Amino acid sequence: MKSILSTVRTIFRRGLPAGLLLLSVAVRADSVVHSVHNMSVSGPGTVKATTESDVCIFCHTVHRSNGQTPLWNHNMSGTNYIVYSSPTLKAVVGQPNGSSRLCLSCHDGTVALGSVNSQTAPIELAGGVSTMPAGPNNLGTDLSGDHPISFVYNAALVAQDSTLADPSTLTGKVKLDSTGQMQCDSCHNPHDDQFGNFLVMDNTGSALCLTCHNTPSWTVSAHAISPQILPATVAAKLSSSGSITTAGSLSKVRASGKTVATMGCAS
Ligand code: HEC
Ligand code: HEC
Ligand code: HEC
Ligand code: HEC
Repeated sequence: MKSILSTVRTIFRRGLPAGLLLLSVAVRADSVVHSVHNMSVSGPGTVKATTESDVCIFCHTVHRSNGQTPLWNHNMSGTNYIVYSSPTLKAVVGQPNGSSRLCLSCHDGTVALGSVNSQTAPIELAGGVSTMPAGPNNLGTDLSGDHPISFVYNAALVAQDSTLADPSTLTGKVKLDSTGQMQCDSCHNPHDDQFGNFLVMDNTGSALCLTCHNTPSWTVSAHAISPQILPATVAAKLSSSGSITTAGSLSKVRASGKTVATMGCAS
């Protein structure tokens, strides 16, 4: 992947028309380069390398990958996780597998962020950062408060929970993996931050959630359409739990997609 600088240099060498084409590729809003997943020295975030300039290397390598696909470079976590369970859950949720384990190799906070298979010493990060800094991006190893992942989502599951969408319809941005399992990347795309939080689609009005959860009459329910103002006490409680930041009408909460989303994942 070219850095913007080297692209600009190419523009000067090759002349404008070819350069413009290259630049339009390099500055696309959905590119990993402009997201916090660019942990190279040119990255926009605070967690970034002191000198490493390769954007992809924290996750992928062309040689000496650790054997996980796709050409995976980041060293894996050996953790046993506490997984989501509830009295109403029908899905059979086991230990994280597939691409979710790739995410957790950084996001469970147990492996140094610069620890990759292709190099003997971990890539050095600015500010002495080693593992994922404490905070919402560090999910930890207790996933019992996070949306379930790594379970088969098939017709048999829908037969037990009729509020779920038919899995054969999940062929767009929201998808299951090649083994029919739901993973972190059913909701997230690690390369594309155009909707914020690397979501695969805009979650305004909980649109992402509603792709799978056909909660029967949600769209006409009081929770969805109420013009009521959130009582100040409730707002204060939600606010202190980090669910919303300001008191406001329910429609405002709904528009941010925040309350429902925060209940579902990573909180
Ligand atoms: C922060 C981690 C991360 C970074 C950085 C990253 N990727 Fe990925 N990439 C992933 C994960 C995880 C997958 C597995 C598929 C998924 O979960 O969506 C993947 C999958 C891929 C695939 C397989 C096809 C696909 O899209 O699923 C290609 C090709 C790829 N990445 C290329 C790149 C390139 C090129 C770069 C550098 C510009 C890069 N990636 C940077 C995490 C990353
Ligand atoms: C190589 C390490 C690495 C891998 C692998 C990785 N991430 Fe991240 N991720 C990061 C870092 C670093 C940040 C920014 C942390 C910070 O600034 O505190 C981040 C931030 C995020 C954020 C928050 C974005 C924001 O705007 O604050 C989300 C969501 C996220 N990652 C999801 C994923 C998912 C899903 C996967 C797997 C498909 C994944 N990540 C794989 C390192 C990684
Ligand atoms: C059902 C969809 C869904 C699944 C599955 C999912 N996430 Fe998320 N994730 C979200 C949404 C929605 C947000 C934004 C939360 C908000 O608005 O407060 C988010 C936020 C995050 C954040 C940012 C921190 C935060 O709490 O806001 C990280 C990091 C993250 N997810 C990582 C992951 C990882 C890693 C996995 C797999 C282990 C995963 N997510 C599985 C939907 C999902
Ligand atoms: C890719 C499809 C998909 C998406 C997108 C999705 N979910 Fe789910 N969700 C499921 C499936 C499947 C289950 C397991 C249901 C079961 O076992 O009955 C589940 C379980 C849950 C549960 C636990 C139910 C229980 O009985 O304990 C909650 C709550 C939930 N989802 C909320 C959300 C929210 C909020 C969002 C949006 C941020 C979301 N989901 C997005 C598919 C999805």
